[in-house]
Amino acid sequence: MKKQGKAIRKAVFPAAGLGTRFLPATKASPKEMLPLVDKPLIQYAVEEAECCGIEEFIIITGKQKRAIEDHFDAAHELEDLLQRKGKKDLLGEVQRLNGFTCAYIRQRAPLGLGHAILCAKPFAKSEPFAVLLSDDVIDPDESLLNDMIAVYEATQAPVVALETVAPEDVEKYGIIDGAEESRGLYRINALVEKPKPGEAPSRLSVIGRYILTPEIFDLLENIAPGKGGEIQLTDALNQLAKKRPVYGLVFEGKRYDAGDKLGFLKATVELALKDKVLSKGFRDFLENFMRTQGIQARN
Ligand code: G1P
Repeated sequence: MKKQGKAIRKAVFPAAGLGTRFLPATKASPKEMLPLVDKPLIQYAVEEAECCGIEEFIIITGKQKRAIEDHFDAAHELEDLLQRKGKKDLLGEVQRLNGFTCAYIRQRAPLGLGHAILCAKPFAKSEPFAVLLSDDVIDPDESLLNDMIAVYEATQAPVVALETVAPEDVEKYGIIDGAEESRGLYRINALVEKPKPGEAPSRLSVIGRYILTPEIFDLLENIAPGKGGEIQLTDALNQLAKKRPVYGLVFEGKRYDAGDKLGFLKATVELALKDKVLSKGFRDFLENFMRTQGIQARN
């Protein structure tokens, strides 16, 4: 078996969406640049991929997304200033971001997640690749993507991440029908994009981490628009699952939907409480706040 992580060298980050769930903040700024504590959402996703040995970062952008490119570019004026002021730690943080090998592709029309992935075809070429949706934030202490790569290495099959959701939430996600082959690992029979609660085949939802093989491109090229008139990755995976094994790996760790206002607030609180510098002061503030507001901790 190949060394863990090296089977997947490339990752695709769809980042062309309009961020309508987070208006007005996302009117002129990319939702991927919303900061959780001190890092933008897309940096969490890029670092998660980097931790798995991924070396090439393919970012699918659109209008109003220039800030993403600037974030991973050199910033000479800022670097000179930090150098002169002797702020070595900050300088290191800023310069580290210039080291990622990024490719940027414009998705010229908002035709959906499947179309965004298709835009990566010239860069992914004939290799398997990861897809990370940056508004699904996975706690940096979790090993989800590494675990998915291990499943890919063992099966050579596409893998999606799954989470069990409440019955009323199935209509927010791609939902699978599948059979559990070993603990937490499902062989997928079918996928449905955002079904009505009564029509979902299960409560197992796809969350924004995928390991895909290049076969997906042919399917995406030929698929008809699905839910919302968009080219849906879920529909292409559904076709793929009829032809060859596709797996789903259940994730039981912490995930935040940071593209949603409430999810974003939850992620901010949890990540701030983990931050070495901020945690003490922030915890004191929260405890005091809860006391003065008369909020009781619920068991
Ligand atoms: C997309 C996918 C959906 C998946 C979800 C995960 O939906 O289309 O199948 O469950 O990401 O976050 P979106 O959130 O872009 O509407």
